[in-house]
Amino acid sequence: MKQLKIFITGASSFLGLHVLNHLQGKGYDVYALRHAAPLPKTHHFNAVDADLEESGSIALAAKGIYPDVVLHIAALAQTELCEKEPERARRINVDATSELLKLFSSESTRFIYVSTDLVFDGLRGNYNESDMPNPLMVYAKTKFEAEELVKAWGKNHAIIRVALLYGPALGRKQSFAGWIESSLEKGKATLFKDEFRTPLYVEDAANALVRLIDSNFCGVMHLGGADRCSRYEFGVELARQGGYELSNICGTNIKDAQLNYYRPPDVSLDSSLAKKNLGIVPISIKEGIGRYLLFSEKRGSSK
Ligand SMILES: NC(=O)c1ccc[n+]([C@@H]2O[C@H](COP(=O)([O-])OP(=O)(O)OC[C@H]3O[C@@H](n4cnc5c(N)ncnc54)[C@H](OP(=O)(O)O)[C@@H]3O)[C@@H](O)[C@H]2O)c1
Repeated sequence: MKQLKIFITGASSFLGLHVLNHLQGKGYDVYALRHAAPLPKTHHFNAVDADLEESGSIALAAKGIYPDVVLHIAALAQTELCEKEPERARRINVDATSELLKLFSSESTRFIYVSTDLVFDGLRGNYNESDMPNPLMVYAKTKFEAEELVKAWGKNHAIIRVALLYGPALGRKQSFAGWIESSLEKGKATLFKDEFRTPLYVEDAANALVRLIDSNFCGVMHLGGADRCSRYEFGVELARQGGYELSNICGTNIKDAQLNYYRPPDVSLDSSLAKKNLGIVPISIKEGIGRYLLFSEKRGSSK
């Protein structure tokens, strides 16, 4: 059987390093885009050096690679940074996606795009794939614009909107859980009581992406964790299981934070389609936090 050639962008990201792990040993021929951050030396893949911000860089670096599947994970994914640098967010999130779609335009190429729950305005929650996005912050607007490009490309594609990710950090970027833990180690963690998500354990997201490679699903798919909760409730559970002082988890509200950009109050996702199509059963927050803490304990957290 022909070995599938997979081209992955954002391999060094919080999510990408888990995906790279999941791709190992499955008989794929993996090409990983390398930019500023290092990629693990222990894994088998071909590194392709390019900067998605520089027009033409990826075309030069990926010349002669004809992937069967493109997993486009790279993004400028920090919401505040996107607000500060909207032009840069546009170049990385929109223009680079457009360039990749043109570059890998063969009829036989499958394009998988990782998007976000934040494309919704959060006024209702429990969104499914037929609900209309209404992105109201720079990050979300650029991610949604890229979604529209992928849809308009019209060939074999899947857009997977994942929820807030958490889990063990395999590289330099830690997740939301890691941020809470390091804040607690220094003192207090202040979290929104009125921002609701369906936090997704990163291994479930990586697993879904690898299953999407072999699936013939085409269109938009949502993937959130098993439970809807506020950031504050998530923090309380982490503190409880991790043996931290519960009073060091402080609650606040979005409006009190006086942000200069919009934060959607409830972008919880309905993941029925992903469960049905990919057979993914996301784990509960309780279990995910337990797994995360086990990993951080093994790593020697300073608590
Ligand atoms: N984290 C979440 O909670 C979450 C939730 C929903 C959706 N998502 C989506 O999931 C994906 C991964 O998110 P993440 O938080 O794991 O990302 P991340 O850790 O912030 O990493 C971003 C990735 O993009 C790459 N990248 C950025 N600028 C680049 C450039 N100019 N050229 C080439 N590569 C570049 C980075 O490579 P270098 O570091 O080498 O520059 C890195 O691999 C993103 O598409 C994001 O929108 C994330």
